[in-house]
Amino acid sequence: MRSICILGSTGSIGENTLDVITRHPHLYRVSALTANTQIEKLARQCHQFEPDIAVVKDAQGAHQLQKLIVHLKTEVLYGAQGLIAATMHPPVDTVMAAIVGAAGLLPTLEAAKAGKRVLLANKEALVMAGPIFMDEVALSGAELLPIDSEHNAIYQCLPHSLATSIGSSSASGVEELLLTASGGPFLHRSIDTLDLVTPDEACAHPNWLMGRKISVDSATMMNKGLELIEAMWLFNMPENKIQIVIHPQSVIHSLVRYVDGSLLAQLGEPDMRTPIAYGLGWPHRIDSGVKKLDMMTLKDLNFMAADVKRYPAILLAREAARTKGTAPAILNAANEVAVESFLQQRIKYTQIIRIVDQVLQEVTAQKATSLELVLEADQQARARAQIVIKGLTA
Ligand SMILES: NC(=O)c1ccc[n+]([C@@H]2O[C@H](COP(=O)([O-])OP(=O)(O)OC[C@H]3O[C@@H](n4cnc5c(N)ncnc54)[C@H](OP(=O)(O)O)[C@@H]3O)[C@@H](O)[C@H]2O)c1
Repeated sequence: MRSICILGSTGSIGENTLDVITRHPHLYRVSALTANTQIEKLARQCHQFEPDIAVVKDAQGAHQLQKLIVHLKTEVLYGAQGLIAATMHPPVDTVMAAIVGAAGLLPTLEAAKAGKRVLLANKEALVMAGPIFMDEVALSGAELLPIDSEHNAIYQCLPHSLATSIGSSSASGVEELLLTASGGPFLHRSIDTLDLVTPDEACAHPNWLMGRKISVDSATMMNKGLELIEAMWLFNMPENKIQIVIHPQSVIHSLVRYVDGSLLAQLGEPDMRTPIAYGLGWPHRIDSGVKKLDMMTLKDLNFMAADVKRYPAILLAREAARTKGTAPAILNAANEVAVESFLQQRIKYTQIIRIVDQVLQEVTAQKATSLELVLEADQQARARAQIVIKGLTA
């Protein structure tokens, strides 16, 4: 029986993970759950799964949770130390990294250092600190399994033993990786009207049900840019060997092209329980509860290049990917701040990527030789983005 810690159990990935686990009570025990502010939802999860540890944002939240689960043996912790304690809890052998944003970096990195099986949904850990993270994985022998549907698809299309070994992709005859993208809710909307987009419109993804931050990133396609950087580190591929292809139906989750002309794809319903079940069950396959893809109902599968006028985020992400060092952390931090401001209706949709662009120009990227430098760049970019936003909203 595997013992699971879910970082971000109250989110979209967290809930889907619990759904898959519920189908296999003889295979998994939930040992630790973490949330940020959704205390009541976490309390309900604690009553259902009776974890050893539950973690919330702060002391006030911990007090609130404690009152809601007074009859359980669950230990209630809080803050960054609480997240690390949940990750390092001795029985835990598998960590689902599903906190959204930069907040997920430190506990996910701790899980990698401790040699646990890391199911990586939190792409920010690799975007911000790719080389540092992959070095820790190599050093500890942690099992790193990508949960992002695109990276999970690529992982499934690569020869197993080579999928995440550093330096292996080119040796295995891989020519390029193709990341598919739905194009989000504004694929066909007139570019002139993007200024008027509301948060609810941006979050209404045509195919996937996700958290609000990643939904906005899917609309701007910054999500695909972050995924490109994630793929570079996961599969040791240079930026120019990773293509982005718009595929509005979201049936093909990504592809690998080999030098012999083969193009391998992974297909399935757009439901995150498939990659989650893959990670939980690896190297075996387990039932995910996902509806079977009916080939007979697949009328059209379309593909097109991404228009960078509609999706300028792709250009910025590629630039940060080529610059390397702290540039991806700066890109990510500026984007997080800008998306948050957009969701709070302080800035327009089209200003998100303009703000990221400005911050990338104003904060100089350094070599990312330590985690401290990465975190410093993250803070600098956040502060800069706040100043830019203040100027726009004054
Ligand atoms: N959703 C998807 O289909 C999908 C697909 C691929 C990759 N991902 C990646 O998976 C990650 C999670 O995405 P999601 O859609 O599940 O996000 P989400 O629904 O917004 O959930 C985020 C989770 O993280 C917690 N959290 C937020 N801020 C935190 C902080 N500062 N400290 C500690 N915990 C915090 C939230 O707690 P509260 O609920 O208490 O606020 C929640 O449990 C992201 O990195 C995303 O890019 C998601």
